[in-house]
Amino acid sequence: MRDARPILFFDSGVGGLSVVAPTRALLPQAPIVYAADSAGFPYGTRSEGEIAARVPALLGRLVERYRPRLAVIACNTASTIALPAVRAALDVPVVGTVPAIKPAAAMSATRVIGVLGTEATVRQPYVDDLAARFAGDCTVLRHGSAALVELAEAALAGEAPSPQAVAAELGGLFGQPGGGRIDVIVNACTHFPLLEAAMAAAAPGVRFVDGGPGIARRIAALTQGQDWPESVPPARLVFTRVGDRERRIARHLAARGFGDAEAL
Ligand code: DGL
Repeated sequence: MRDARPILFFDSGVGGLSVVAPTRALLPQAPIVYAADSAGFPYGTRSEGEIAARVPALLGRLVERYRPRLAVIACNTASTIALPAVRAALDVPVVGTVPAIKPAAAMSATRVIGVLGTEATVRQPYVDDLAARFAGDCTVLRHGSAALVELAEAALAGEAPSPQAVAAELGGLFGQPGGGRIDVIVNACTHFPLLEAAMAAAAPGVRFVDGGPGIARRIAALTQGQDWPESVPPARLVFTRVGDRERRIARHLAARGFGDAEAL
């Protein structure tokens, strides 16, 4: 009997797709359930208390329903606030997403790096800790952007991002004292790599780094030796609320092997 248990990916919205893509590249046989908390979106402007109360309970329901072999919190905001509580609540391995400050510091020649996340993520003590441990000799500038999250959601529903709007958000980093010397930006929100082309155009010469490829390698290591089904079913797309926007996103994702929008 082949093991049909899926890998469950969770985010507030479509951002976690930037983690699904490198995972699929490494594990093309993996059945995938992608769950977006559309009813709770966006997380970045919520309080720590709201996220801590919402995320473990939601993951509990998802694990009960889809019985995954592994759950991935493909969201920096949820991970930096609620990862220990989610791990304590679930009986499957949980992989979280944390800002890729360590690889960014390793890459930076100017020793000035930018951390671009949600407002909630960039104020977390977890980020202070990563900066102190892995980028102690760097200036680490931070900016929280709710607008980029919205632009990424709209891009996945078919609306091309405005180059001016993307450039204005990056200005939140470059406009800070020392910001002109940033040579590496950490995409500390899983939504932002979905805007890769527009971001690169707005920041010529700057390199971007995100956690997606590292998470994919971690998932591959944790599932090493496990069995997969012979044929891969379409990825399931689950939302906590299904409206026009979610149906539009599902239509756009059909070409990438996703099924219809399902309600949790
Ligand atoms: N994709 C999420 C993250 O990585 C959060 C986006 C939001 O809901 O604000 O932080």
